[in-house]
Amino acid sequence: MAPQPGYDALADLYHRTFPEPFQTALERRAVDAFADLAIAARDAGPTTAVSIVDVGCGTGGVSAHLGARGLSVRGVDPSRAMLAIARAQHPDLTWSNGDADLTDVDLSDVAGVIARFSLIHLPPDRVRSTLADWAERLPAGAVLLVATQSSDAPGVHEFDHAVARAWRWHADALADAVTTAGFDELWRTVSRPDDDHRFPEVHLTAVRR
Ligand SMILES: C[S@@+](CC[C@H](N)C(=O)[O-])C[C@H]1O[C@@H](n2cnc3c(N)ncnc32)[C@H](O)[C@@H]1O
Repeated sequence: MAPQPGYDALADLYHRTFPEPFQTALERRAVDAFADLAIAARDAGPTTAVSIVDVGCGTGGVSAHLGARGLSVRGVDPSRAMLAIARAQHPDLTWSNGDADLTDVDLSDVAGVIARFSLIHLPPDRVRSTLADWAERLPAGAVLLVATQSSDAPGVHEFDHAVARAWRWHADALADAVTTAGFDELWRTVSRPDDDHRFPEVHLTAVRR
C-alpha cells in the first residue's frame, strides 16, 4: 500500500476546510441516488455485514451520510490521519487502513462500492486494473459510483492537485474504463466549474454485469 504523506500532513486542515461531506446539492443527490440503488441491491441479495465499501473515505463524512441512509459502511483509506478523524467523528462505522486494492476486504457479497475523488490519485492504468479487479470480486448487480475531477478535453490529464499526484478524467474516458472493467453504466452527472471548483466534476454510476 502506498502511504499518503500529503493527506497525513494536511488531515486536520482538510477537515476544517471541508467540514461537510458535500459542497453542492448535486453531489449529495448523486450520492443519494447511488444509495437508493445500493439499498435495492442489498435487499435483493443475501444479508451481509458490510453493504458498502467507501474507497478513499477520507474523514468519513460521505460514509456517515450513507450510514444514515441505513447502509452498513466500511470506510477504507491509506491515510492514517484522515482515518483517525473519521473514526473519532463516526465511531459507529467500520474503518480500515488500506488502499484501492482492497486487499483485506471481502467483496463477494458487497452491494456497492463508492470511490469519490480517491481514484484520481492512481495512475490511469492502475485505475483500469483496479476497476477490473473489483468487477471480478463483486457479485453481479453490485453498484459502483466513481467521482473525479473532469475535463472538457477527451482523455485523462494529470493536474496540479494540492495534496498528491492526481489525474482528471473526461466523462467518456471514465465510462470507458468502467465498462471495459465489467460494469454497465447507469448514469452520470457532470458539473461545470464555478468559484469553488476549478474543473468540471463527474459522478458516474454503474452496475456489475
Ligand atoms: C479528496 S479526498 C476524498 C475523500 C472522500 N472520498 C470524499 O468524497 O470526501 C481523497 C482521499 O483519497 C485517499 N487516497 C489517496 N490515494 C489513495 C489510494 N491509492 N487508494 C485509496 N484512497 C486513496 C486519500 O488518502 C484521501 O483521503
